Amino acid sequence: MSSPVVAATFHAPAMAAIHAGCFPPGECWSATAIADQLVLPGTFGLIDPGGGMVLARVAADEAEILTLAMLPSSRRQGRARRLLQAAEDQAGSAGAGVMFLEVSERNIAARALYAAAGYLQAGRRPRYYPGGIDALLLRKQLIPGATTTG
Ligand SMILES: CC(C)(COP(=O)(O)OP(=O)(O)OC[C@H]1O[C@@H](n2cnc3c(N)ncnc32)[C@H](O)[C@@H]1OP(=O)(O)O)[C@@H](O)C(=O)NCCC(=O)NCCS
Repeated sequence: MSSPVVAATFHAPAMAAIHAGCFPPGECWSATAIADQLVLPGTFGLIDPGGGMVLARVAADEAEILTLAMLPSSRRQGRARRLLQAAEDQAGSAGAGVMFLEVSERNIAARALYAAAGYLQAGRRPRYYPGGIDALLLRKQLIPGATTTG
């Protein structure tokens, strides 16, 4: 399995194509939206050449997974787990001690992935997603004992 590639803005169309293959039309990110994220300070993207992508953001000593997606044909091979780990490593290298993310309460696959990767529920955002579905706020300590300014 080839290693994740650090995304540049010229990867945005490919990342958007992956996103479109993983989310319903109203929820997928355009190439422009992805490119706009990639140029923000602290934001980075990683691509799995097998058909996956992750966007994450580091702000001071905290980080956040903005989105993560793996094309159906490449799922259940441990690829998303590897992308997530690579994002955690990069965020940790940039000084983040904690990673946060939001996931739909109904997203069984993603919740299982995050639970297996050591994420714990830190909160709930009622009716955050279309259809009135709650978001779960998950948190993982990247550096044992790290405290955050937030
Ligand atoms: C969630 C998603 C990224 C997982 O991608 P993936 O490459 O299949 O995940 P992995 O193969 O790395 O799975 C790692 C672990 O997560 C869990 N997992 C992943 N998919 C699962 C599923 N469908 N059912 C149950 N557990 C699942 C398992 O514990 C798995 O380990 P195992 O295969 O050894 O049992 C993918 O299903 C996806 O893109 N879904 C649509 C977009 C999405 O929901 N993104 C996340 C938004 S927060």
